[in-house]
Amino acid sequence: MAAELDQRKEPVTTVTIVGSTGSIGTQTIDVITREPDRYRVTALVAGSDAATLAAQAAELRPGVAVVADESRLEELRHRLAEAGAGEVAAMAGDRALADAAADADITVNGVVGFAGLTTTLACLEAGKRLALANKESLIAAGPVVQQARRTPGAELIPVDSEHAAIHQCLIGATRRGVSRLQLTASGGPFRRRSREELASVTVDQALNHPTWSMGPKITVDSSTLMNKGLEVIEANELFGRPAGDAGFGIGLDDIDVVVHPQSIVHSMVTFTDGSTIAQLSNPDMRLPIAYALAHPERFSQPFGRLDWSRRQRLDFEPPDRHAFPCLDLAYAAARIGGTGPAWLSGANEVAVGAFLHKRIRWADIATVIETTMSHHDGQPADSLDAVLHADAKARKYAERVLDDQC
Ligand SMILES: NC(=O)c1ccc[n+]([C@@H]2O[C@H](COP(=O)([O-])OP(=O)(O)OC[C@H]3O[C@@H](n4cnc5c(N)ncnc54)[C@H](OP(=O)(O)O)[C@@H]3O)[C@@H](O)[C@H]2O)c1
Repeated sequence: MAAELDQRKEPVTTVTIVGSTGSIGTQTIDVITREPDRYRVTALVAGSDAATLAAQAAELRPGVAVVADESRLEELRHRLAEAGAGEVAAMAGDRALADAAADADITVNGVVGFAGLTTTLACLEAGKRLALANKESLIAAGPVVQQARRTPGAELIPVDSEHAAIHQCLIGATRRGVSRLQLTASGGPFRRRSREELASVTVDQALNHPTWSMGPKITVDSSTLMNKGLEVIEANELFGRPAGDAGFGIGLDDIDVVVHPQSIVHSMVTFTDGSTIAQLSNPDMRLPIAYALAHPERFSQPFGRLDWSRRQRLDFEPPDRHAFPCLDLAYAAARIGGTGPAWLSGANEVAVGAFLHKRIRWADIATVIETTMSHHDGQPADSLDAVLHADAKARKYAERVLDDQC
């Protein structure tokens, strides 16, 4: 009898968490540890924070802990031993990171920025499920990632809450029936401020997001609406591909942005008959993380469940494109195509980094990106080398623009 029961048990799903020390990574650990019979973390990967990584490894006991920054390997070994987790293999560098991302049943990519590309490609090329929070890799390397998605067994489930919402709204939809996508935006900390008022906002104000608690880069992106612009490109890559690929045949002009300050409706799909389907929950990233892990099943525990016995209001308004020019810069880069999105994303990373280090003002972020984009060389993004080259070139131009400005 016991043997029969054992046979009926679902097999444990192995998970690699890349970017385990960040906002997405720590929330993934929270989700996974609630269902220990269903999921087992087999690898943890961080950028350079060996101390937090070792503490996580001591708690979760994965087979391997990887630090991308090779100069931190000795520190990681030392801290693992100190934490009594000496049996966890300590590794470092891109090769070890890629191996970890290719090894588990599911890899959660919670890396910030273009650095997430190694994880995205390694996981998809190994024919595994990618739970993708790292939007920059898909945006910068769209055609290369699309090619990797065609690997037998490869599967990309979005973790970004808007795209997870659309993914859910599209279950059962046919290609011909989808008309438009509406990406919702909280509006960030500066909603309803004029361009003039935005001239003097500070780093602390930009980091004070009204509804979401996230890492610094995406929080600044939310304040400029570049995050929403990047998400438009992400949605186009995920759902907008023509027949033959996994998409729904819609184009960039079919993707709208709607400001919704309560962050309850995470995005919507409008169908050709005029019907709109939305996904609703309280703003809690553990829900899309759990969705990407369990799909097509559902997690057994609720995250962000709404209380319908309380009075609720849901407001919607168009974005202020004049005060937040980054939104249209993203649409323009997507229309350029090729390496345009890679340039946009690279220039944005440089500009946001400069803002966080107080080298430039908030309003200069858009100027740095726009000036960098004016140098775009029109190259296609038809290979990994082309994308790496484009990212490096865009960063170089953006740094030059910064030097001229500062
Ligand atoms: N946070 C959210 O709620 C949220 C929501 C939607 C989408 N996203 C997307 O998810 C991604 C992560 O965002 P986040 O807010 O979680 O960022 P975060 O808190 O800044 O965390 C970033 C993580 O990436 C790691 N990392 C940095 N460079 C790395 C490298 N070269 N190789 C491997 N790992 C590296 C960091 O490690 P160290 O700690 O060692 O530096 C850290 O674990 C972003 O693309 C963001 O747009 C986030």
